[in-house]
Amino acid sequence: MSTFDLIRSDIESYCEAHSTPENELLYRLNRHTNLETLNPRMLSGQLQGVFLSFIAKMLSPKTILEIGTFTGYSALCLAEGLSEYGYLHTIEANEEYEERIKNYFSQSPLKNKIVLHIGKAEEIVPTLNETWDLVFIDADKENYQIFYDIVFPKVRKGGFILIDNTLWNGKVVREVAPNDKDTKSVMAFNDFVQNDNRVRNLLLPFRDGIMIVEKL
Ligand SMILES: C[S@@+](CC[C@H](N)C(=O)[O-])C[C@H]1O[C@@H](n2cnc3c(N)ncnc32)[C@H](O)[C@@H]1O
Repeated sequence: MSTFDLIRSDIESYCEAHSTPENELLYRLNRHTNLETLNPRMLSGQLQGVFLSFIAKMLSPKTILEIGTFTGYSALCLAEGLSEYGYLHTIEANEEYEERIKNYFSQSPLKNKIVLHIGKAEEIVPTLNETWDLVFIDADKENYQIFYDIVFPKVRKGGFILIDNTLWNGKVVREVAPNDKDTKSVMAFNDFVQNDNRVRNLLLPFRDGIMIVEKL
């Protein structure tokens, strides 16, 4: 761990201690994910969860799309901000997660507002006849551009897309190994958004980097 990482982890702990804690269901889901899955780091966690919940509450969207459910943590956080008759669709490619996602969603008071799709987002998004107010992209880094391209026409004007991990553990500002396809994809994607005159964008240096995009 570098000094930079140590400072960051100190700051992150301080921020966590001064942000609203997880509710009981999110706490259990976080714990379960850490104990029972192979890659628990993929979970958003408390700080990012509160952030997503705040963003959704501020926008009060009627429709939210999430690409990359994992165990369902971020979906539950985003759903907290849905408007009264709003709903959230979330897509997960790995069917091994299906049972545990359904188990945790079923324990949430928001369960009737959440629709889970198991399958590849590239195949499922085009079948959803919706206009999205808010989209959260948090899946396979190599496919970020594809996800962005397929959702973009379905985002309403003035709607928002959040794309996670756009700093990719700081690798976007270091020398890139020739075989590091994920870093190259994230960098190319960030460059694309920066030059996309259909949007306003902010690459927020929060956690692993969240690109916030507003469709003009
Ligand atoms: C970083 S995790 C998502 C974490 C989750 N959003 C959270 O914050 O708790 C990425 C997830 O995307 C899924 N995924 C990868 N490629 C996908 C695709 N093409 N379509 C849908 N899901 C995909 C992976 O199986 C994995 O569970």
